[in-house]
Amino acid sequence: MSTGVALIGSEGRMGRYCDQLLARHPEFQIVCRVTSDQDLVSELERTRPDVGLDFTRAGLGRDHGAILLRAGVRPLIGTSGMRPEDDQFLHELALERELAGLVVPNFSLGIWLQQKLALLAVQHLEQVEIQEEHHIDKIDSPSGTALDTALQLGEALGRPGEEVPIHSVRLPGLHSNQTVLFGGPGQILRLTHETYGLEAFGPGILAGLHFLAQAPPGIQRGIGHALENR
Ligand SMILES: NC(=O)c1ccc[n+]([C@@H]2O[C@H](COP(=O)([O-])OP(=O)(O)OC[C@H]3O[C@@H](n4cnc5c(N)ncnc54)[C@H](OP(=O)(O)O)[C@@H]3O)[C@@H](O)[C@H]2O)c1
Repeated sequence: MSTGVALIGSEGRMGRYCDQLLARHPEFQIVCRVTSDQDLVSELERTRPDVGLDFTRAGLGRDHGAILLRAGVRPLIGTSGMRPEDDQFLHELALERELAGLVVPNFSLGIWLQQKLALLAVQHLEQVEIQEEHHIDKIDSPSGTALDTALQLGEALGRPGEEVPIHSVRLPGLHSNQTVLFGGPGQILRLTHETYGLEAFGPGILAGLHFLAQAPPGIQRGIGHALENR
């Protein structure tokens, strides 16, 4: 039996990519495509999906996650702008509804690896900054990925409240790049991830959808659990 997916933000860059991606994976069936002029609540009532995959506008993830959970649908939130307090709000709702959900600031395997390597490096080189570069149409700055990386580094340094500096560049011609720079006496370590196409996100999106089929109730952050249990 296939998993019914609501694709929210279906007319955007990521929405159109997910449409093509899931068409090649019959274990998932898109049962509704939600655009900005449609009412999410009534679309969910009409089509009764299992999972809601959200790629909309930065800042909408919390509200959409709550609508999905209240409709009995497991949220997979790829939209930027989810803060730790948004995860916590959705987590409590997910536990109440006994549903699993996942918030993923970046679905690419390369960023997942970059973050793991950065957490290793920061144990030895504590002076760290992040530079992220994106296309000119990206409305959120810093990117959700940079904020997530900074959060993880801050926790690893034992300074969760303290901000790791982020430098954001928005220029035509750029797609999506992130470098984590570590400075030490007489040396710099750069961990750079460059994205050249949306297909970088495909395996992570599929892993997230598979993960939600068997994950315990509550909201988890990041693609790590899903990729490690593929
Ligand atoms: N997690 C990841 O790995 C990852 C990867 C890439 C992008 N992202 C994030 O995903 C989001 C979407 O990226 P994108 O590049 O696809 O952006 P995009 O091309 O601007 O697409 C966003 C789409 O969402 C629609 N939308 C806005 N509000 C909506 C609503 N209330 N209900 C339904 N649809 C709505 C927009 O419609 P209108 O044009 O009519 O407003 C647009 O079609 C961004 O936050 C981006 O940062 C995350």
